[in-house]
Amino acid sequence: MSDAAEQGYFTEESSAEVVVSRNQKAEDARLRQVMEVITRHLHAAVKEIEPTQDEWMKAILFLTDTGHMCNDWRQEFILLSDVLGVSMLVDAINNRKPSGASESTVLGPFHVDDAPERALGDDICLDQKGEPMLVRGRILDIEGNPIAGAKIDVWQANDEGFYDVQQKGLQPDFNLRGVFRSNEAGEYWFKGVKPKYYPIPDDGPVGKLLASLGRHPYRPAHLHYIIEADGFETLVTHIFDPDDPYIHSDAVFGVKESLMATFQPIDDAARIKDAGFDGPFYEVEHDFVLAKG
Ligand code: BEZ
Ligand code: FE
Repeated sequence: MSDAAEQGYFTEESSAEVVVSRNQKAEDARLRQVMEVITRHLHAAVKEIEPTQDEWMKAILFLTDTGHMCNDWRQEFILLSDVLGVSMLVDAINNRKPSGASESTVLGPFHVDDAPERALGDDICLDQKGEPMLVRGRILDIEGNPIAGAKIDVWQANDEGFYDVQQKGLQPDFNLRGVFRSNEAGEYWFKGVKPKYYPIPDDGPVGKLLASLGRHPYRPAHLHYIIEADGFETLVTHIFDPDDPYIHSDAVFGVKESLMATFQPIDDAARIKDAGFDGPFYEVEHDFVLAKG
């Protein structure tokens, strides 16, 4: 340590060391550790970038705009974390699953806590818009045994790429969302509509940042799931349409190979009648494997 650092004076060379040592009396050891790591990496980044005063002010104003964009239903800092890949990294660190268990992905901002309980086979599309879809599968443990009574909370965007909460008054409340329970064989099934890709909210500073970086704001078409069962880890995940144009460039990095589903077009008359549709539909089959809690 240089003389200046030992005395607590700030120099370009000793900058991180001086700040870190100033925090040593923090009672919360975790806070002290977190601030030390952030200080070291932030100072290293600033030393590598060597920002001009104007550039640093631009960064401060970007964060200011990000804060101003936040309200009860818009969290621009989470969007920033999403497009930086940090949300997916935190998700990965906190959801290391045993081999064979279904993988998690980001929750996103469009979940609602009070979606209605529905019976197996119900149609969650309340406005009959879009291409009909039957979603089915099983909830299993790692050994392949069915999990009965699992709570399956699903939500999806409509055929134009909007969630009900983004189109209040245009879509019925609770359109394309519902809570189901797996049966004794671990099975679940419900009707919906083929989802479409959509942009993450991009009318704020994060959208501007994406545009400046030459990035699009789109997420490939997907269905969201939260699956809960006693004795098992809760699984927050999606299934994706592998044929979606944005499947390799999700704006928030949420796609995983194991979360691809197949959207099988069905036009056989007997199967259409059997499924209770009056025309061709898409069948999506996907099993989920829960890790022991
Ligand atoms: C979503 O899939 O609903 C979502 C996830 C992250 C950011 C925006 C939307
Ligand atoms: Fe989504």
